[in-house]
Amino acid sequence: MKKIIQKVKSYDIQSGYIKWLIKYSIPYLPQILLIFVMNIACSLISAQLAVVSKNIIDSAIGGNLVVKAIGIYVIMILIDMLFSAAVSFVSVILEEKFSFGIRKNLYEKIIQSNWVDIKKYHSGDMMTRMTSDAGNISNGIIYTIPNIFRLIIEVLVMFFVLYYYEPALALLSLTIAPVAALTCFVLGRKLKKLQVKVLETEAAYRSFLQESISNLLIVKAFCNEAHSVSKLVKLREERFSWVRKKANMGIVSSNIMSLSFQIGYIAALAVGAYKVADGSITYGTMALFLTMVSRIQSPIMQLAEYIPKVVSIFASTGRVMELQSIEKENYETEEIVHENIGVEVNNVTFGYTEDETILEDIFLDVKPGEFVAIIGESGMGKTTLIRLMLAFLEGNNGVIQFYNSQEQRVASNAGARRFMSYVPQGNTLFSGTIRENVLMGKEDASEEEVWQALKVAAADGFVKELPAGIDTVIGEKGYGISEGQAQRIAIARAVVKKAPFLILDEATSSLDEKTELAVLEGIRKLTPKPTCLLITHRRSVLAYCDREVKIANKRIE
Ligand SMILES: Nc1ncnc2c1ncn2[C@@H]1O[C@H](COP(=O)(O)OP(=O)(O)OP(=O)(O)O)[C@@H](O)[C@H]1O
Ligand SMILES: [Mg+2]
Repeated sequence: MKKIIQKVKSYDIQSGYIKWLIKYSIPYLPQILLIFVMNIACSLISAQLAVVSKNIIDSAIGGNLVVKAIGIYVIMILIDMLFSAAVSFVSVILEEKFSFGIRKNLYEKIIQSNWVDIKKYHSGDMMTRMTSDAGNISNGIIYTIPNIFRLIIEVLVMFFVLYYYEPALALLSLTIAPVAALTCFVLGRKLKKLQVKVLETEAAYRSFLQESISNLLIVKAFCNEAHSVSKLVKLREERFSWVRKKANMGIVSSNIMSLSFQIGYIAALAVGAYKVADGSITYGTMALFLTMVSRIQSPIMQLAEYIPKVVSIFASTGRVMELQSIEKENYETEEIVHENIGVEVNNVTFGYTEDETILEDIFLDVKPGEFVAIIGESGMGKTTLIRLMLAFLEGNNGVIQFYNSQEQRVASNAGARRFMSYVPQGNTLFSGTIRENVLMGKEDASEEEVWQALKVAAADGFVKELPAGIDTVIGEKGYGISEGQAQRIAIARAVVKKAPFLILDEATSSLDEKTELAVLEGIRKLTPKPTCLLITHRRSVLAYCDREVKIANKRIE
């Protein structure tokens, strides 16, 4: 019973994959069909070529040289070449479009998905799914699947042509089919498991590469160079062992196919020779027949060789679908006037895991325009509380509501982020110019607004002094400027948004006291005055706040 359920389940999964593949292929169907039709034309031409060459041989034996037939032969070969070239061209363009389509869709899904759920995946793993897996799928749809259809049609066409001339020999040449079917069935299942392992180990070593390159300084500082390289080799070896297992299985399958091909061919040759000897068929038919036998058997063999490719399409489809199935954040929120926003946290409890809570029964009311400091020892849950407000996390129970002075209320969700601005803990700048970084806060901010924001963040001075000024290009994670300067640009990015609700998570931790003071003073003087939550470990910040809220022992004290 259990086995039957499992079988039904796996059938459901497979049909889900097929539905997914069809859905993604529909926009490209005209081009895919074009390729397919041209491929079929090539097959028909090559079938016809065999017949033409039979005629040439037969008439040559009869003492006639058929110039016309040779001419037709040459023209047909030229058409065949032309079609093949067209197919290659269209395929390359289509593959590029198709794989980008999957990548874009996946990227959109990732950035709109629930943050906690998506953070369970390493960025290297997500990259592998967006590149290798998307590539496998598009290659499969553009090349493998149409080729499989073409091969099937080719087998059928060749079979009927041969059947027309010699039914017995036609049936004999098909003896390879059951062997092919059986090989497909048995190997397909095993191969899929191996293919998933290959992709998983690829993701692991990519993740490692990505992380160690982006943290090069740590690798160097701890003299980890040799260790890192050996770790990479180890990860590659793991991948290699799966690749080898997969390749071995492929070789076994193609050998089985090759052997049956040889047996089929020898049998057909023997029967053909026998028939020529007793005069029941012509030399031409014999030549046609031998060509046909190899032309039926070789597509069948090719079909078997496509098993690993089909398996890899399915394995990759599963991995892409897994990321896509992550729930989208809720962006729908009621419109409220974005002025004088306060927040009410009501009885919220939260834990990252089911067994442990980080915050319990949290009540907090921050009135519009208030400046509130959130303090507490490291690891107490200050950042977690902020993430709950920003709806990056969802509480186990309780509600968080934002309200304005007209008593309009909305629950915290992704849509509510529109009236919030945030300076996260740590360095969060992007590579690019300082201007581009600030504009992330407000795409269409004017030059004046950008400079105003830089001024509030006490960053205008140092930015002006840079040789390229605001157009100075900074590297990943703010490479090229100091930590405190990066913090100030991050503050400017938040300020330029002019959001009525501002959250600063240790945003001034790298600044000297004088600069910090200037920044806080700038923020306090903002008009209209935002509501502000400041997480801090520093006493100096407290002087700028209306009150302080302490988190300790999972609660607000
Ligand atoms: N993604 C996560 N999964 C599981 N536990 C987490 C996760 N993020 C944080 N934690 C845990 O939650 C607790 C609170 O973390 P949080 O980042 O909110 O602390 P914090 O008060 O902001 O500390 P700090 O002052 O050091 O920034 C910590 O014990 C931390 O280990
Ligand atoms: Mg924190």
